[in-house]
Amino acid sequence: MSYETILTETRDAVTLITLNRPQALNALNGQVLEDLISAFAEFEADDSQRCAVLTGSGDKAFAAGADIKEMAEKDAADFYLEDFFARWTSHVAEAVRKPWIAAVNGFALGGGCELAMMADFILASDQAKFGQPEIKLGVAPGMGGSQRLTRAVGKSKAMEMCLTGRMMGADEAERAGLVARVVPHDELLTEAMKTAATIAGMPSMAAMVNKEMVNAAFETDLAQGIRHERRLFQILTASEDKAEGMAAFIEKREGKWKGR
Ligand code: CAA
Repeated sequence: MSYETILTETRDAVTLITLNRPQALNALNGQVLEDLISAFAEFEADDSQRCAVLTGSGDKAFAAGADIKEMAEKDAADFYLEDFFARWTSHVAEAVRKPWIAAVNGFALGGGCELAMMADFILASDQAKFGQPEIKLGVAPGMGGSQRLTRAVGKSKAMEMCLTGRMMGADEAERAGLVARVVPHDELLTEAMKTAATIAGMPSMAAMVNKEMVNAAFETDLAQGIRHERRLFQILTASEDKAEGMAAFIEKREGKWKGR
C-alpha cells in the first residue's frame, strides 16, 4: 500500500517505515498519524513480518515535533473535542504488539521525541538530537513525553529538558538511558535493519511476550510485575517453539521456529 506522508517497504521479515515530509522536518500532522496507524496495522496483520524499523527521511530529522502550523489553527475546544493526540497512544504506542525500533537520524523534538519513545527501543545516529521544547511554544508535551522521558532518564534530567527546552545529543541520551545504542550517522539504517533482522529471526511469539513483560515494568509495581512475568513465562513453555528451542540446544543445532 502507498501513503501520502510515509514510505513503507519490506525486506524479508522486517518492515521499514520512513516518515517522509522532509520539507517540514517530518513534522507529525494528522495525515502522518493516519498513515502510521494504517502502516502499523498492516505490519501487525502480516504474519511474514516480525519486526519494524521507523526512521525519518532526509539527513536532518527523525521528526521535529507535532506540526506547529496545524496546531496554530486550532482552539482549546478543538483540541479537547478531538481528544487531540489520544490516537498516538491508543493506535500507535499501545496497538503494536510486535517489536519495533526507532532509528533516530536527526532531530527528535517534541512529538518526534515522544514518537521515538513509543518504540521498543531507540537506536540513534551520532547526529541525533532529542528534546521537549514545547514550553517555548507556550505549551507542554502532549504525546506522553513528560511521562516516558521521566521514566527513561529520571526526574532531574527530564525536568531540566522540559523546563528549558534544551536539546540532548546522542551521547548524552545514551548515557542517560534514553537510547539503546549510538552508531555513526551513515551506518544507522544498516545497523537498525540488522538489529531488526536479528529480532525477526527469534521465535516471534516469544519476542512478543518479552516485549509485553518489559512494558509491564512501566505499569505495575515490582511484585505484580514479577508475578506477571512468571505467568507469561509459564504460558510460553506450552509453545511449540519452547520444545523446539530446548531440543535444538541439546542437539547442538539451530532452532526452526513456528512462531507459536
Ligand atoms: N511543525 C511544523 N513545521 C515545522 C516543524 C514543526 N514542528 N519543525 C520544523 N518545521 C518546518 C519549518 O517551519 C520550516 O518550514 P518552512 O521552510 O516552510 O519555513 C522547515 O520545517 C525547516 O525548518 P527550519 O527552517 O526551522 O530548520 P532549522 O534547521 O533552522 O531548525 C529546528 C531546525 C531547530 C528543528 C526548528 O525547525 C525547530 O525548532 N522546529 C520546531 C521544534 C519544536 O518546537 N517541536 C515541538 C513541536 S510541539 C509538539 O510536538 C507538541 C507535542 O508534545 C506533541
